[in-house]
Amino acid sequence: MMARRSQQVTYWPMSRLIYDAGGLNSGSWPVVTPEHFITPVARFFTRSHAPIPAIDPATWRLEVAGLVHRASHFSLDELVGEFPKRTLDATLVCAGLRRAEFLSLGPLPGELPWGPEPVSTGSWTGVALRDVLRAAGLGAEARYVEFTGLDRVDREGRHFGFGGSIDLDKAIGGEVLLATQLNGAPLPPMHGFPLRAIVPGWIGARSVKWLGRIALLAEPSENYFQSRAYRTQREIDPEKPRDVSSGDPLGEVPLNAIIVEPAEGTTVAAGWVTVRGWAMGSANRPLVSVEVSPNGGRDWNTARITVPGTAWTWSFWEATMSLEPDSHILTVRATDSAGVTQPAEVSETWNVKGYANNAWHRVTLVAE
Ligand code: MTE
Repeated sequence: MMARRSQQVTYWPMSRLIYDAGGLNSGSWPVVTPEHFITPVARFFTRSHAPIPAIDPATWRLEVAGLVHRASHFSLDELVGEFPKRTLDATLVCAGLRRAEFLSLGPLPGELPWGPEPVSTGSWTGVALRDVLRAAGLGAEARYVEFTGLDRVDREGRHFGFGGSIDLDKAIGGEVLLATQLNGAPLPPMHGFPLRAIVPGWIGARSVKWLGRIALLAEPSENYFQSRAYRTQREIDPEKPRDVSSGDPLGEVPLNAIIVEPAEGTTVAAGWVTVRGWAMGSANRPLVSVEVSPNGGRDWNTARITVPGTAWTWSFWEATMSLEPDSHILTVRATDSAGVTQPAEVSETWNVKGYANNAWHRVTLVAE
């Protein structure tokens, strides 16, 4: 079912899966032991649409512009010196998580065939976006906050910085950070040195790295990655089959749950088997329960939450079940505080670019 087994991947010693020659896009199989609640930097996934820019922190400036009363530029020292320091644990989830499962329904040309790798939890330190926006003074028309990176992406004959926008309500929520550190050390270059946005609970694409500019806008950003990509469109336009500009823009990550072990295709000893994984709700509807089925969704057992998270992070869970000698389809689903659970089938979540798959996660294994 998962296309992962047939993919051409190279294994690094750290078990990083590399999907491209430049190493711009990689991830590790998640580990769900308590000491891995915060993902070590060496195992943190990474996703970049262009080469990593070399930025001199001495000359770097953050521009704050658009619908503000006081447009300004900040050096790194000014930013960390003028605003209170904040640290927050937040799980970064790429919109392409679990895209590979869609390949059972047909090809997704040009898209990275991610399995469960592009998700990691960081302890992020920086300043609150809200504090910086307060200092700039919001114009009455401001509705969106646009982030633009200093990398240079090529799309549709144009050369521009990766970017996108979030709603003003989210931006002033207090949890959105302008982060200078990951896990207590300066951001590594691949994760956005010297400054990146961290938008907890929203797709990773909105956590713009190598931040150069923040602009207050009356309308959503026109950046390609807001207006043309990272949108869920369920119908293919026959004239422009890869175009999703009429789809819905992605924002909050959906409720999701994943079986991390045993992995797909494993053979285990029949009898008691422990199944482990992670799950996460969305901002206003936190995770309430996780259920695991030994038989593709006919019967469900409630899992034990082994490491509870917050509204902005994953939680780890575990369930033990007795398996007869046979082939079994283990299945997981989570339920949020509104009583909403996940869609059962990938056909319900399929979309043209394969984003935000949160169908029940299934793993086929053999007990003998
Ligand atoms: N920011 C810039 N400037 N350029 C990018 O290509 N990729 C985005 C986001 N921020 C990206 C970016 C995507 S799609 C994801 S999932 C996250 O960064 C990945 O962050 P990481 O590499 O630190 O894991």
